[in-house]
Amino acid sequence: MNNNKKFNAVITGIGMYVPEKVLTNQDFVDIYGLETSDEWITSRTGIKERRILEHGATSDLAAGAAKDLLAHSKVKAEEIDCIIVATVTPDMMFPATACIVQHKIGATNAWGFDLEAACSGFLFALQTGASIVESGRYKKVLVIGADKMSTIVDYTDRNNCILFGDAASAVLLEPGDDLEYGIVDSVLKVDGSGSPYLHMKAGGSLNPPSIETVTNKMHYLYQEGKTVFKYAVTGMADISVEIMERNNLKADDITYLIPHQANLRIIDATAERMGLTREKVTINIDRYGNTTAATIPMCMCEYYRAGKIKKGDNLILSAFGAGYTWGATYVKWSID
Ligand code: COA
Repeated sequence: MNNNKKFNAVITGIGMYVPEKVLTNQDFVDIYGLETSDEWITSRTGIKERRILEHGATSDLAAGAAKDLLAHSKVKAEEIDCIIVATVTPDMMFPATACIVQHKIGATNAWGFDLEAACSGFLFALQTGASIVESGRYKKVLVIGADKMSTIVDYTDRNNCILFGDAASAVLLEPGDDLEYGIVDSVLKVDGSGSPYLHMKAGGSLNPPSIETVTNKMHYLYQEGKTVFKYAVTGMADISVEIMERNNLKADDITYLIPHQANLRIIDATAERMGLTREKVTINIDRYGNTTAATIPMCMCEYYRAGKIKKGDNLILSAFGAGYTWGATYVKWSID
């Protein structure tokens, strides 16, 4: 916590975008011929269906979320100062997806960049955006979590393809005078010793694309699910409790835990350690699966628009992902 701040970054707008095409658990059996079942996927993960973007790229998801935010806001695209896109599925290696989004939404006065922290991407981008606002130099920062996971999952691999979906969600950060509101505190961590268990082997400078990398399926997401599960349960729960303790928050003070939606069992374990009942946890994993950088803002958007999140509510955002990366952020909601 920085007690010398003059103002906080507050969330003043929110939006989301999900593609129309629905891929159900049964579709993995009927379309992809996998040996799996709705019962197995639901009981092990909590996922019933996910969305797939059939045509277009991550920037289309991200621009869709940004346009939805702007349609619900008085702010105009040309007023945006900076765009941060958290993603592991950029349109291409370069330019940054943020540049493509800037052009697609007409944010003619913005600079921007991509940030890669996998499933923790939104939390890392939110803290980065908040720091930019708190610097006093920029007033309107658009933070987007967007991933087209369907482009990096192998639909012959039943261990992983059932987990992921495509989506994007965005928040607008602006300065707020009341230090009680906004992005109050963040605890963020990385531990690169976790990289062997969740990564994409090829496409970067270590293993540039070649016939061999394609033949050996090295451009797909690789995950040792059991190992990641173990670390995610401990990591997300520990860091969520840490942010509660250092902000003197008891379970009763928290309106919602907004967890990354990777697996309902990881979410339940985190809530239990925090002393929270299911009613105090935002869940939409059943409809969207794991959309990587998009899960947390999308949950926040749906619950806000349903009238369940109100001004003054205490929200704990929490995530764990590849890297390893993990973190928790305390937000006091500021929109009426
Ligand atoms: N349908 C049916 N059976 C499946 C299956 C599927 N879709 N996927 C895997 N199985 C099988 C496995 O092959 C294994 O069979 P085996 O024992 O004969 O080898 C069996 O089910 C049990 O696998 P296991 O790994 O013990 O299942 P699990 O309870 O750990 O659940 C995950 C698997 C992937 C759902 C779970 O490990 C997980 O969620 N991991 C974390 C993923 C994650 O959150 N990643 C994102 C970053 S946080």
